[in-house]
Amino acid sequence: MNFHPSHSSTPGSVFTESPIRDLEAIVRSRTPLIVMESSEEPQIVRMARQIAQRQQLKAFRWSVTEGMQALDPADQPLLAVEKSNDVLNYIKNSASNALFVLLDFHPYLQDAVHVRHLKDIALNCSKKYVTVMLVGYALKMPEELLPFTAQFRMPLPSADEVRGIVFDVAGEWGAEHGQRDVQTTNKAIDLLVRNLIGLSATDVRRLALKAINDDGVISESELPEVMRAKYELLGRDGILSFEYETAKFSEIGGMHRLRHWLEVRQEFFLEETEASLDPPRGVLLLGVQGCGKSLIAKAAAAIFRAPLLRLDFGVLYNKYYGETERNLRKAFETAEVMSPCVLWMDEIEKGVAVQNDDDGLSRRILGTFLTWMSERKKPVFVVATANDIMRLPPELVRKGRFDEIFFVDLPSPENRRDILLIHLRKRSLDPAEFDLEKIIEVTKGFSGSEIEQAIVSAMYTARAKRHTLTQEDLIAEIHQTRPLSIVMAEKVEELREWASTRTVPCD
Ligand SMILES: Nc1ncnc2c1ncn2[C@@H]1O[C@H](COP(=O)(O)OP(=O)(O)O)[C@@H](O)[C@H]1O
Ligand SMILES: [Mg+2]
Repeated sequence: MNFHPSHSSTPGSVFTESPIRDLEAIVRSRTPLIVMESSEEPQIVRMARQIAQRQQLKAFRWSVTEGMQALDPADQPLLAVEKSNDVLNYIKNSASNALFVLLDFHPYLQDAVHVRHLKDIALNCSKKYVTVMLVGYALKMPEELLPFTAQFRMPLPSADEVRGIVFDVAGEWGAEHGQRDVQTTNKAIDLLVRNLIGLSATDVRRLALKAINDDGVISESELPEVMRAKYELLGRDGILSFEYETAKFSEIGGMHRLRHWLEVRQEFFLEETEASLDPPRGVLLLGVQGCGKSLIAKAAAAIFRAPLLRLDFGVLYNKYYGETERNLRKAFETAEVMSPCVLWMDEIEKGVAVQNDDDGLSRRILGTFLTWMSERKKPVFVVATANDIMRLPPELVRKGRFDEIFFVDLPSPENRRDILLIHLRKRSLDPAEFDLEKIIEVTKGFSGSEIEQAIVSAMYTARAKRHTLTQEDLIAEIHQTRPLSIVMAEKVEELREWASTRTVPCD
């Protein structure tokens, strides 16, 4: 599909009527000071101009670099007004009804004289119709000005507005590149738009441009890059992390049923779902340690072609002690802004297991999680993993919380073969040089991780003896390994027993 500038919505039409109507209502209410924490300067100035026209006000903008400029050149004062103090004096003495947009005024809000000027302006405004809009990325109003101040939040662009911006940017790109068309598909555009929702107009513009890049193509393959940039823009550190590393199911031995389960749902995760089909919400992976649960979480993100966000309960409890639930809710919000995405909660029992000494905190965390699970509207697919079912609260494993509970068991002989092949090849070893049947036999009860570790250790031993890994090295290493399933035989048996009636196997 070619992307013509003529498809574009009206240039600059990135905001709907409603924010401007809301802002106008505040201006008309004669609130003298309006604070707007936003980096959407051009948009705000355009809004101010329109409001001024409709309300028959003069309108000015001021910045430290450009001084005061009338938005309508006819209103430009004869003498230049440049300093921050001068502009406040000008406002104070202004004879006409006017609207002033002060850009990046925050440093002056620290200064008593400036604050007093603003207060004088506010106290006098009943005589004149003067509105001062303070616009900046972060603005903290001093207490004494709060009674005269209204906060105005720029709403984030809607899906249609995001689409409009993407079309604008594509049009501009074309114009700058000799009227070339941006090459793309409807699908790629839909995905891009969906991924950019939740960002400000400026950021949408920036990322859309990044997606078009130098090559003039918007393709699905660019999306991971865009998502990464989006996550960085959200700038929220803490309990969520963006996992750059994903895995392919081809790197996982076994798990065929689970893989199929995910693949069948992939298209419904990304598309707008038919009303009759519930979008996939999440899975719980229970099972023996080292059998590939974390690996599956990474591969699920690859199947869903969505970014993988990891929620770390350790950080939640340690770093945010005292505001744990709020931070968990914030993490969920971020995940929704990042949606469609996969939210990976590794070893969930560490987060929601009932501990004796935490004043019910873990119960509240569980409550926060379950509430979000049932109420969330956005496509966030949860992959929760757990090693220790005995510590999982029963509410969590009750039917209907997750779409499915999968049991990740020790690998079968056939799956051990797959795992061996994967890990030998990964280290450039030729499986034909090994007696696989024998290795499969002696690794009974080994997890995938233990098989991998045996190969790695045996390679070190072989290296020390200055030869490449042989069958004998590997068998010797395996004989030295005490797999968890033997060391903790009872626990593993208990887990299997429990799982047999409550979960679905991965194969
Ligand atoms: N089924 C498997 N196929 C291939 N490799 C596996 C498998 N299971 C485990 N591994 C290897 O062991 C490592 C650790 O497994 P992991 O996914 O962390 O297990 P878990 O999360 O269940 O404890 C993986 O990174 C992978 O290299
Ligand atoms: Mg793990």
